[in-house]
Amino acid sequence: MESKETKLHQEVSSLAILESEIRKLQYRQDALIEVLHIAQNLFSYLSKETLRYVAKQLKLPYSKVQGVATFYHLFRLQPPAEHTCIVCTGTACYVKGAYRLLETVESWSGLQEGHISEDSKISLRSVRCLEPCGIAPVVVIDGKVRGHETPEKLLQELKGWFVNVKDRS
Ligand code: FES
Repeated sequence: MESKETKLHQEVSSLAILESEIRKLQYRQDALIEVLHIAQNLFSYLSKETLRYVAKQLKLPYSKVQGVATFYHLFRLQPPAEHTCIVCTGTACYVKGAYRLLETVESWSGLQEGHISEDSKISLRSVRCLEPCGIAPVVVIDGKVRGHETPEKLLQELKGWFVNVKDRS
């Protein structure tokens, strides 16, 4: 677990990088989306403070910057969850039972697809085609691709997360 001091140091360096990237882009207002991408890569998500900072640097109204960040799904406005389960619901995975995987996790955990658990620890999402269709149905658990997934195997994997969450609370 990183210390508060380390985290603060990282944030200060990320802010310095963001400032330098904005300068390279000559504070152009039409580079807003590019700047938001850079900011998200640096901070993992776009906090209100980051959006305010971008608005100030590009001399844009905060409402405009927030509007763009909210409009595009690829921008995250909340910190990422500690654990992520992504179920592919593309055609090949759908045919091989992707929805059974999703339903099993949803009904077992009470966490709905597209949501993050109340304690911000677990995120459950679906996407359309992750590409390795030959091993459908595919899930990605904490960045690790798993093929030929079954509801039983998936629950087995996820139960550990929920146990850990309970242990910490
Ligand atoms: S449809 Fe799921 S990996 Fe392509």
